[in-house]
Amino acid sequence: MFQATAPGKVILVGEHAVVYGRPAIAAPVWQAVATATVVPGAPGSGCHIIAPDVGLALRLADAGDDEPLAVVTRLALERLGISHEPDWQITLHSDIPIASGMGSGAALSTALVRAVMLGASHAAEPSEVSELVYESERFYHGTPSGIDNTVVAYGMPIWFVKGQPPEPFTPARPILLAIADSGIRSPTKETVGDVRRAWSAEPARFDAIFDEIGRTVLAARRALEAGDAVALGRIMDANQALLQALDVSSPPLEKLIAAAQQAGALGAKLSGGGRGGNIIALVNEESATGVSAALAAAGARRVIVTTIGE
Ligand code: MEV
Repeated sequence: MFQATAPGKVILVGEHAVVYGRPAIAAPVWQAVATATVVPGAPGSGCHIIAPDVGLALRLADAGDDEPLAVVTRLALERLGISHEPDWQITLHSDIPIASGMGSGAALSTALVRAVMLGASHAAEPSEVSELVYESERFYHGTPSGIDNTVVAYGMPIWFVKGQPPEPFTPARPILLAIADSGIRSPTKETVGDVRRAWSAEPARFDAIFDEIGRTVLAARRALEAGDAVALGRIMDANQALLQALDVSSPPLEKLIAAAQQAGALGAKLSGGGRGGNIIALVNEESATGVSAALAAAGARRVIVTTIGE
């Protein structure tokens, strides 16, 4: 039996603009993970992929090219030079909410690729896993920047620019985030598509917003390097205002953000594709419990408090 795990993720700053070449900062969230387990089956039984949490059960040989988990399994087997269908049962579990901006698709694919590679006794490099998962991410996202597969495969905070190798980095001081799930599912593919249509209609206006987001990301990096949580909080608020200008926020997300701010968060914003999914609030040891309670009272389905940069 071979088992592999991959974390969920949050985008700290820079979502959407990252699709258009501006930088973004993302971090893994180990409190929500995907796990893949490979169990050898009887000779001739074939390769089966089962994800009971989402009601998925398929045989690799029968699955179409529109099924991301089959695509990524085939890519991994190809990379390993395995041309026959192995006799494996691959079971996937995840407690990362789907279509919520936490990279559930990337995490499932990453765990799957790692388990397949372990099953074939191949020690996979994060860059190799990330590249394979990117291929499958195109099915989830349409035009992904590649940030989700990268942060999930590297499993550490990263500075990311599309098409460039990621820069893993550690903040000068760990930061504490409360991550609150609105419970509203919002596929990233849709918000990314809407932003693309808006950008095509008004390129100058949207490019200016992307540039401004890029500047906030740079400022966030400086604040993280200086260990300045107060400055980082203000930058997150500024990024949220720019995400509103991109029209990817929504009243339920803003209700959560306001609740976090009123309860003492240093800053708060949506994270990921937006409209639904998760918001993140920058907290500290003193405010974490109060902010989490305020988020729950404001309707959050789940609140995770996580440390980034330990
Ligand atoms: C999704 O986690 C982040 C987006 O910027 C899309 C992408 O980068 O591919 C919204």
